This record gives sequence, C-alpha cells and structure tokens, in this order.
Amino acid sequence: MIVAGNWKMFKGPHEARAFAAAVRNLPSRAPGVEVVVCTPAVSITAAVQGLGADSGVRVYGQNVHWELEGAYTGEISAPMLLEAGATGTLVGHSERRQLFGETDETVRLRAESALEQGLRVIACVGETEAEREAGRTEAVLEGQVAVLPRHERLVIAYEPVWAIGTGKTATAETAQEAHAFVKSLHPTAVLYGGSVKPDNAGTLLAQPDVDGALVGGASLEVTSFEAICLAGAQAVAA
Ligand code: 13P
Repeated sequence: MIVAGNWKMFKGPHEARAFAAAVRNLPSRAPGVEVVVCTPAVSITAAVQGLGADSGVRVYGQNVHWELEGAYTGEISAPMLLEAGATGTLVGHSERRQLFGETDETVRLRAESALEQGLRVIACVGETEAEREAGRTEAVLEGQVAVLPRHERLVIAYEPVWAIGTGKTATAETAQEAHAFVKSLHPTAVLYGGSVKPDNAGTLLAQPDVDGALVGGASLEVTSFEAICLAGAQAVAA
C-alpha cells in the first residue's frame, strides 16, 4: 500500500521542511503504508532535511528528464534528483500531458532513465471525460500503459482526468474496474488518484485492485494527508 502526496506547484523549501518535520513519524503510525511526498524540485532537499535520518517517508520528484545532463533548459535529470535526496519520481502526470505537451513516448523515455538511474517511478495514466464518454477508456489506457517498462521499481497511478482537482471521484466500482483492466495489461501495483479525500479514501483503498492513492489537494494539509495514510493502514489490516 502506497500513499503518495503530489504537492504539484505548492510548498517552497520553507513550507516543505515544516510539513516534512510534522509527518516524519507517520510511517510508524500507519503500518503497511509506504508514505511518499512528491515535492517541487527546489523543495526536495528541505523535505529530506525536515524528515531527518530515520523517517520512513520517501521524497520523490514530480518529473525527470531522460538525459543525464545537457542543454535542456528547465529540465532536471535523475542523477540531480538523487543528489537532492529524492528516491523516486512521478512521470506522465495528466497535467504534464495536457499542459506541457508530454506524450506516451516522452513518458517512456523519462521512466526508463529514472529506472536505469535507480529511482522508483510512479507512472500516471488516465482518460479524459470526453474519452470516457466516447467509450474509449480502455483504448486510451492501453496506449498509455503499453509504453511503460516492466520493472520492480515502477508502479502505475490511474488518475481519471475528469476526477483531478474537480471534487468528482470515480466510484469505488469504476476505480476497481479500471485498476483491474490496467493490471491485466501490466502486472504491478496501481494507485488511484483523483480527488482522494479523508472521507472517501477508506472505500477506495478497500477495493481489491486499488493498491494505494496518489493524492493532490488533500496532501497539502498534514491532518488530511495523515488521515488518508491511516485509512491506508486500516485497509491493509482488514
Ligand atoms: P486531486 O487529489 O487534487 O484531485 O489531484 C489528484 C492528482 O492529480 C494527484 O496526482
């Protein structure tokens, strides 16, 4: 069970350090849950420092370039993430795909480089509302999943685009169905993302093929992030 907070473009180093210090003991209170925070790149080192040496909370980046260095203004490489203290990264988040021209091919390149350099990877997939309404959900997921490398350090996050930041959540049944489909294509853990909140986390995480959560808005407050991690621990224990 993985509960990962995706902070998106929130929390500079100062806030990141304070948040990290507040959640450093969370893994001991949420047995069976791998707790992850995906911070802005500039905040990785501060988050690692706030957690201290013995915290089980992992710090990830939100994206990674496929080259190790070079003339790629604005990009960050896997060795740089590692040096900053991250142990993993997101790739292919729908905001990257929709707003910054990310394609299945660039997602593949980013995932491969991250894995080669020793990072863990959460690779995001998911259909838009128009694609779901057109009956294309499975075709879209198939295309997005097909390019992802099979690797023990890669997990997938299913994030229906229509549920991200909208307050709309997939029903537990819809999530379960999509997760089972993704796993039939690529056998790995599959996290659910899209308006996961303390009040729906328990039901979603109780689904047999929902192996964790990728949390946006509700990961920005210590209390709501903790509540979701504790719901994860309950699902593990059940
Ligand atoms: P919200 O939880 O804010 O809907 O964001 C989901 C998400 O995009 C996590 O990566």
